[in-house]
This record gives sequence, C-alpha cells and structure tokens, in this order.
Amino acid sequence: MLESSERIEAKMASTNISAEHITKVYQARKKQTVAMQDCSIQILENEFVCIVGASGCGKSTLLRMLAGLDFPTEGTITVNDKPVTGPGVDRGMVFQGYTLFPWLTVEQNLQYGLKLKKMPKPQQDEIVDKYLKIIGLSNFRNAYPHQLSGGMKQRVAIARMLANSPEFLLMDEPFGALDPITKARLQVFLREIWRELRPTTVFVTHDIEEAVFLATKIYVLSSRPGRVKAEIPVNLTYKRTLDLKDTEEFYAYYQQIEKLIQEN
Ligand SMILES: Nc1ncnc2c1ncn2[C@@H]1O[C@H](COP(=O)(O)OP(=O)(O)O)[C@@H](O)[C@H]1O
Ligand SMILES: [Mg+2]
Repeated sequence: MLESSERIEAKMASTNISAEHITKVYQARKKQTVAMQDCSIQILENEFVCIVGASGCGKSTLLRMLAGLDFPTEGTITVNDKPVTGPGVDRGMVFQGYTLFPWLTVEQNLQYGLKLKKMPKPQQDEIVDKYLKIIGLSNFRNAYPHQLSGGMKQRVAIARMLANSPEFLLMDEPFGALDPITKARLQVFLREIWRELRPTTVFVTHDIEEAVFLATKIYVLSSRPGRVKAEIPVNLTYKRTLDLKDTEEFYAYYQQIEKLIQEN
C-alpha cells in the first residue's frame, strides 16, 4: 500500500533534480580525465536515491555538480527546472569527513546556519531541541566535536543539515569512515529520519548493501567514465530494520547490482 502511494506521490512531484547528458572532463596540464560520459539521472520529490558504483567512477564528481560546487563540461543540471549556477541553501550536504566546526559545541554547530539566517533565538532553540532529540544527543549539546565518537559526529552533521530545512539532502559516503556496526546503526537511523520527514535525498556510496538498504531507487554507474548502467526501483518494505539484510529479496537486489558493477 505505502509503496504504491509512494510512487504516485513521486510521479506527481514538482520538486526535482535532473542531470541530462552530463559529461565531465578534468584537465590537468597534459592529462585529461573523462570522469563522466553522457550520464543522465532524475531525482523526484520524496525519493531516496542512491548512486552506487566502483571507486573512481565519478560519484563524487556527480554529487558535487548537483551541489553546484563543480560544473559539467557538457549537459545540463537543473534543480526544480532551473539550471544550477552554484551552491544553494535548498541543497544541504554531508560528506564522509567530519565537517563540524571543531571550535563550536554541538548546539552551536546546529545553530550556525539558523543564526546566519537571522532566525529569532526562541525559534532557533526550538529547532535545535527538536533535532538533538531526533539524533538522540540532547545530553551532548554542550560537548565539542572532539569529545564525540565518529558515529555521533555524523549524527550531528546530519542534524545540522536538517536544521536548515533544505529541500534536498546530498550525501557523499557519509558513513564511509565508520566501523561496520556503527555504520549499520546509522543506516537505520537515516532511513527512519527519511520515513518521518521524507526529504528528497541523493546518497552516494560504493557499498551495495548500504544502497539497497536505504534507497527507493538506485542508479548503478559504470566504471570510469561514469555512465548510468541501470536504474533500479527498490520495492522493499517501507520500514526497514537490519534483519531485512538477511532476506532473499534483499540479497536478490544485492546480487543484481553486484553483477552490473562486475560486468564493467
Ligand atoms: N579535481 C580533479 N581533477 C582531476 N581529476 C579528478 C578530479 N576529481 C576527480 N578526478 C578524477 O575523476 C574520476 C572520478 O572521481 P570521483 O568522482 O572522485 O569518483 P568516486 O567518487 O566515484 O570515487 C577519478 O578518476 C578521479 O581521479
Ligand atoms: Mg567519492
């Protein structure tokens, strides 16, 4: 039931990110690297899209272009049907490395963007309280990043992104540096947040299991230059817990994608 209403909602959506026929060539002195070639993807409202592919296939390049931090050599990228000309508050980002401000407390990190927007203090406090609760770190509001574990830092980074209420979440291997148990926990955590808030999400990873667990739709990229090898809707249960990873239907997706990546 939920799965089909999810799809209808996505179809009727007005907000979207679109990359059409993207080619990206890096030019460094005499060396040319074609990082992407004729790559097209569509991200619709409320979707959780994972982009998966081998290391070096151009995933980060693609995400940076969606963020407006880099630009395609050919092709167009639009957000809500407007060409991307640079970064914007409509797109929040979390990367693999810990990007919290080390000199600010957890609370101050969450407040940072809200202060920039000149949001009144009581409203800031309300938002900060809400996201501290969501990430389960209310007791760590006065801690500094160096006092937190890797998993806690990434939870704060995600909360900081959400606090700014961006229309789109862009994440590049945000759990890539975590140990497997923390990583699995944060996957459940992120999927639960998505289920509750339904932010339109683009999540880049080389980890097939992670992609299948999180996504409503997966793009499998070929090895460099990155092209779309397959677009795979993931029709697994809406509420996902770790035991899903032990099911046959999960493994079927896993195998399908592994085969596509190995074929390169
Ligand atoms: N700024 C850059 N200058 C030159 N080459 C780059 C640059 N950024 C990435 N590349 C190259 O483009 C290819 C794709 O890189 P990247 O997007 O980081 O891949 P992925 O994130 O999938 O591992 C790689 O071969 C990489 O070396
Ligand atoms: Mg990368």
